[in-house]
Amino acid sequence: MAPSWPLPESDPWSTPFAQLLMDQLELCPGDEVLDIAAGGGIPAFHLAEQVGTEGSVLAVDIHQGQVLRARSIQGRHMPWLQFEVGDMRFLPETLPRFNRISGNLSFMFFRPNRFEVLKNLVRFLKPGGQIVLTFPSMGTFDSLWVCVDEEMKRLNLDKERKALAEYIEERPSANQAKQWLEELGLERVKVTEWPLEIFTGPGREFLEHPLLRGGFLDDVYECFEDQSLAHEFMDALSQDINRFTPLLAQRCAMSGFLPGQ
Ligand SMILES: C[S@@+](CC[C@H](N)C(=O)[O-])C[C@H]1O[C@@H](n2cnc3c(N)ncnc32)[C@H](O)[C@@H]1O
Repeated sequence: MAPSWPLPESDPWSTPFAQLLMDQLELCPGDEVLDIAAGGGIPAFHLAEQVGTEGSVLAVDIHQGQVLRARSIQGRHMPWLQFEVGDMRFLPETLPRFNRISGNLSFMFFRPNRFEVLKNLVRFLKPGGQIVLTFPSMGTFDSLWVCVDEEMKRLNLDKERKALAEYIEERPSANQAKQWLEELGLERVKVTEWPLEIFTGPGREFLEHPLLRGGFLDDVYECFEDQSLAHEFMDALSQDINRFTPLLAQRCAMSGFLPGQ
């Protein structure tokens, strides 16, 4: 029996965002999809299964390791799904046009000029095509940022506090996403947000939480020039997680259609 490719139930981060993405994406068998920031293949495998043999999915990620990992999972299955190394910010003009562009947990990486990257990406849509991107929007883990800021203030860490404020300010918001999609002339623009709680214990469990550490806590460490001070600060903070739990992420999906011909 051919394997099926549902979104993995055990994934506590990519899958909840990908579910929101799939909810917004109007996908039909035969669709030609560009999936950006494809990582290990969430939701590229699922998309490929949905579009079927008549469709295609080009899944692009900047890291070769991710692409190789996804290819090894794929093996000989679904040859209409292709994983390639590429930078979603600078896609080659020679790329074909797609009727769907998806990007799960992607929009936050549209640096340094998110609007320009979005504008470039929309050029790869066919008339009538849809783009859907998900990302953790402004408000994500605010309870933690408030607590970090209070602690920095209490300890007179002024430089670090300023760096934190700049980091918080730089995060993409749902309102901004909506405004930009409209500015680009997209139709049926829809931006939705759903909260998602992330569970953790104190101490190392918090500091080494695979999701928090990679995507978020590293950004706090980066606010410090003195990394031993950063570790001391974060170790102390991690002892009393009641100060900033529940930890809520804002799951955001932004969607719009290029006007048809
Ligand atoms: C949070 S992961 C999401 C992966 C996958 N879509 C998922 O939901 O599990 C973000 C991915 O974006 C990729 N990425 C970051 N910047 C990129 C860029 N400029 N172009 C393409 N991929 C990028 C990273 O390598 C990483 O695999």
